[in-house]
Amino acid sequence: MPFPIERVDALEILDSRGNPTLSVEVALAGGFTGEAQVPSGASTGTHEAVELRDGDPTRYAGKGVRQAVRHVLEVLGPAVRGMDAADQAAIDLRLLALDPTPQKSRLGANALLGLSCAVARAAACALRVPLWQHLRGSREACLPLPMVNIVSGGLHAGRQFEFQDFLVIPHGLPDYPAALEAAVAVHRAARAEIESRGYVLTGVADEGGWGPRLPRNEMALEILCRSIERAGYRPGAQVSIAVDVAASHFQRAGQYHLDSEARVLSPEEMIGLLAAWCARFPILSLEDGLAEDDWNGWKRLTGALGSRVQLLGDDLFVTNLARLERGIREGAANAVLVKMNQIGTLTETFAVIDRARQSGYRAVISARSGETEDDFLADLAVASGAGQIKIGSVRSSERLAKYNRLLRIARDAGLAFARFPTPAG
Ligand code: PGA
Ligand code: ZN
Repeated sequence: MPFPIERVDALEILDSRGNPTLSVEVALAGGFTGEAQVPSGASTGTHEAVELRDGDPTRYAGKGVRQAVRHVLEVLGPAVRGMDAADQAAIDLRLLALDPTPQKSRLGANALLGLSCAVARAAACALRVPLWQHLRGSREACLPLPMVNIVSGGLHAGRQFEFQDFLVIPHGLPDYPAALEAAVAVHRAARAEIESRGYVLTGVADEGGWGPRLPRNEMALEILCRSIERAGYRPGAQVSIAVDVAASHFQRAGQYHLDSEARVLSPEEMIGLLAAWCARFPILSLEDGLAEDDWNGWKRLTGALGSRVQLLGDDLFVTNLARLERGIREGAANAVLVKMNQIGTLTETFAVIDRARQSGYRAVISARSGETEDDFLADLAVASGAGQIKIGSVRSSERLAKYNRLLRIARDAGLAFARFPTPAG
């Protein structure tokens, strides 16, 4: 039975940084409705789809999204009116036809994504199934392993040091609630550890990790290991480490600038540093270890570490199928970070997840540093069967909305809890 779209509404709301973003609402015949809110990045990749901002300096320092709201109300909404909300692919194709520019700069990926996700929610409501069940299709759903932010630097924490995020993966716990509890315990312990070492805690970063001033990037790894122990867990066996280097943001003219340590590294030296870290610390995953267009460096990094460590492309792939295809062809990275707003529609997001799976690449479903109380991401992660989710830390409601939604799905759905994939598996 089709569920025709009757009405589309959009509103400018605020995200977790107090910046404007969109809420889009879709109403179907029969009174079924769905709403979705759009996230926003700060350490964005150059090749991401465009987030349309008004640029009017008299409102929110130019960050207003009234134009994108207008595009939903006047262009995208009318174009999908009467279409079947259960046919996500047809809806997304229609949206893409209205903005065929390579980076969705005409109407804005924020406008497209809000509508794409709100349609899925409304359809799930009409079908009377949880969102993840509607989204999964023939995929094998599972509860994802969380990758949780503990200590931050880079663009998310006033550049106290260069590497952006140091995270934990609680992979040796029996179920999702126990894994979440471990991550919370490590986050608490990390504050005590940072303070007991006498480092200045400059505050909490955009995703809720602690933002200490550290003499060297590597200290964050020592703090993490010690915090895992302090929380009562075994590093490497129960809780391990992930790093989001976000190297694009301190690469200039082909060199990696560690200003806080007063040194400059070549790609080869960066690979050497990362390999040395992986030998010394229980690191399972390295994200954006090199910059977004350093394809040659990425191939060498993958050759050196790819059989042992998850090498995750965020700025490298920007959830873009063409860039992922290049990575697969050239042997760059072995996993893709998936952020819906980097590409703009749900259908394109699933195309990337499914292609990754087919080619032996892993996928990690990720939030942005600017988030909302929308918990769509939790259902997406479950539905995709990707097995890993990266939401940020455990201190603020825009993150906890997703963690809490997963607790509910864990209680209700009887799904398997993902294991961290074995090397190269
Ligand atoms: P962003 O950061 O949302 O600011 O891009 C997240 C990340 O780099 O993974
Ligand atoms: Zn990243």
